[in-house]
Amino acid sequence: MPNSSSCDVQVHIPRHVAIIMDGNGRWARKRGLARIKGHEKGGENVLAILESVQKLGIRYLTLYAFSVENWKRPADEVAALMLLLEAYINRYFDELVKRRVRLRVIGNINVLPDHARVPLERAIHETARFTGQTLVLALNYGARSEVLEAARSYANDVATGHASTDELSWDKFSRYLYTRDMPDPDLIIRTSGETRLSNFLLLQAAYAEWYFTSVLWPDFDEVQLLKAITEFSLRERRFGRTGEQIASQSDAT
Ligand code: FPP
Repeated sequence: MPNSSSCDVQVHIPRHVAIIMDGNGRWARKRGLARIKGHEKGGENVLAILESVQKLGIRYLTLYAFSVENWKRPADEVAALMLLLEAYINRYFDELVKRRVRLRVIGNINVLPDHARVPLERAIHETARFTGQTLVLALNYGARSEVLEAARSYANDVATGHASTDELSWDKFSRYLYTRDMPDPDLIIRTSGETRLSNFLLLQAAYAEWYFTSVLWPDFDEVQLLKAITEFSLRERRFGRTGEQIASQSDAT
């Protein structure tokens, strides 16, 4: 739904915003702190941005919290990140319930340490009834692993007669992805000045608008989010059609 802002840009609130939360380490280094302090600050920012997202009426927020490649980090950083995940899930649980936010995960969380996985699964279970807003954490997530897992499940379904290759369509195959009952992201933000996709939602991002900012994740606030949404609103999303087609479509509405 378009809204008018004070500077007369028609603001389109995206249904689904996904964020690559990058720059925690650099945020800490700039202050002479250990990297984990940056992750701590980044974890605090998750709640602040969730509040902004809820205020703006964005239905889905997906956060890239830990990639399949992040296991390659030093063991002490990985262990500290898992402890932080546990701490933040426990700390935010009441807030999620109070705000009626459903928590979901994309990625294979079976391999997370029990101390992080158990509270995570509990929070997912206890918030499953909420339908207004969804917070999706990408944990041990990688788009290539997701596609391989989907292909494996699909092949099993074909082998057991539950699916047929003749009827394969994107609509059908996408139901094997982690994101099976979620809308594709409309806007994907990467903080910290990096302009890579880093194996994040590669297929779901087919028609997403990307927004890159040099702001480090712990400093990314509501003002920054509004900047990203304003830029998103100025983009013309054509989905393969021409600009003229889009213009005549919006004239008709
Ligand atoms: C990238 O910054 C950040 C991560 C790999 C971890 C993100 C994790 C959190 C924000 C905390 C998790 C908490 C919750 C509630 C999900 P980086 O370390 O790569 O930064 P750098 O590029 O500056 O080193």
